[in-house]
Amino acid sequence: MKIKLLSRLFITSLIFLSLTVSAVEDKKVFISIDSDALSFTQKKFGPRVSEIESRDGISILKIDEDALPWLSLLMHRNFNRCGGFMLHDDAIEANNLLNSQSDQLYAKKNSFVDYKIDQDATVKPMIDQASPANILATIVQLSAFQNRYYKGEFGKKSAAFIKDTWTNLIKNRSDAKVEYFQHPNWDQPSIIMTIKGQSDETIVLGGHQDSINGYMGGASARAPGSDDNASGISTITEVIRVLIDNSYQPQKTLKFMAYAAEEVGLLGSKEIASDFKKRNVNVIGVMQLDMTNFKGNETLDIVMMRDYTNDEQNKFVGSIIDHYVPGIKWGFDKCGYGCSDHASWHTQGYPASMPFEATMDTMNHKIHTANDTLTVSNNNASHAVKFAKMAIGYIVELDHKL
Ligand code: BES
Ligand code: ZN
Repeated sequence: MKIKLLSRLFITSLIFLSLTVSAVEDKKVFISIDSDALSFTQKKFGPRVSEIESRDGISILKIDEDALPWLSLLMHRNFNRCGGFMLHDDAIEANNLLNSQSDQLYAKKNSFVDYKIDQDATVKPMIDQASPANILATIVQLSAFQNRYYKGEFGKKSAAFIKDTWTNLIKNRSDAKVEYFQHPNWDQPSIIMTIKGQSDETIVLGGHQDSINGYMGGASARAPGSDDNASGISTITEVIRVLIDNSYQPQKTLKFMAYAAEEVGLLGSKEIASDFKKRNVNVIGVMQLDMTNFKGNETLDIVMMRDYTNDEQNKFVGSIIDHYVPGIKWGFDKCGYGCSDHASWHTQGYPASMPFEATMDTMNHKIHTANDTLTVSNNNASHAVKFAKMAIGYIVELDHKL
């Protein structure tokens, strides 16, 4: 209690300090938060923040850029939200979010409602091949990098490792390729693996490759990120291996993505999703795997995040789990902010889902520290393999959607 009081005093004085020191000419940025945190934020930051618009439970705010670290701290403490807000490039992008939210709520553009799950003959044998040992081995390799930070040598080397791993998996298939998606403002590229189908309808399975040790960690601190998010990338890697080993020939185009720079504001996926939108790429479904190997909740295995995702697709993924991964219990929760790369796709109007490893109140508290290691997951990948099975079912069934 005493510590809590002290930390409250400390944070309050820091905010006061930053208020007084930088009251002159601050750079303003646009963020979105869940509206339930609006009045709290306004009370704490006073004139440094102004509300632009609120709709469907989301508020767009204009705020001093250097207030962001404090906002993040407060969100963490008072709302148990990790970052607690989503940063937007400009007012237009922030507004896109409100519009895409309304589109998806009211227009139901992308309906998964009447869809039959009937690819058992293809899916079941592949699901049986998904191997926890393979996932574990990849998590070990990814965690061995000092960090996978978006700036500096380590994050570049770990990106090259992912590219090589995926390139080795696709062997000599002429319909598949692995490419870097370069980002102009930092060192770490994103990686995109494509298996081309007959149609240009596109299905995306992605996760972020970068790791971070707190806000101050930088490019040299130890950040194994075994759960956040070596687990997701290793799960995706196993999905690729199974599809290729079974010579799976998709009808639609499949894209597997390892995004750069998620931990610093979803930067990599934002550039990719807006590039896809600009080029009018017909993405019919996005699944985000960010943290798959810590079973925090006693009963639930897979938790579908409701916010910044497509309701219909979420239900569809739920029925995929029921059908193909029986015995696995799933439910719903919400991040309370755009907590991962699914939000970048959602903001551009694409249907996205974020099946997560636990509920928010049972989350892995070692993430973003040097202790985000496999020890937390008892040195096995028995939780992550459920996500690999689900993702195989999702891809093959969506690939056969008429
Ligand atoms: N994997 C986390 C998001 C997460 C953490 C979801 C805990 C659910 C429970 C992700 O890598 C992350 O840390 N995201 C940032 C987002 C921000 C930079 C926009 C966060 O939560 O601070
Ligand atoms: Zn993450």
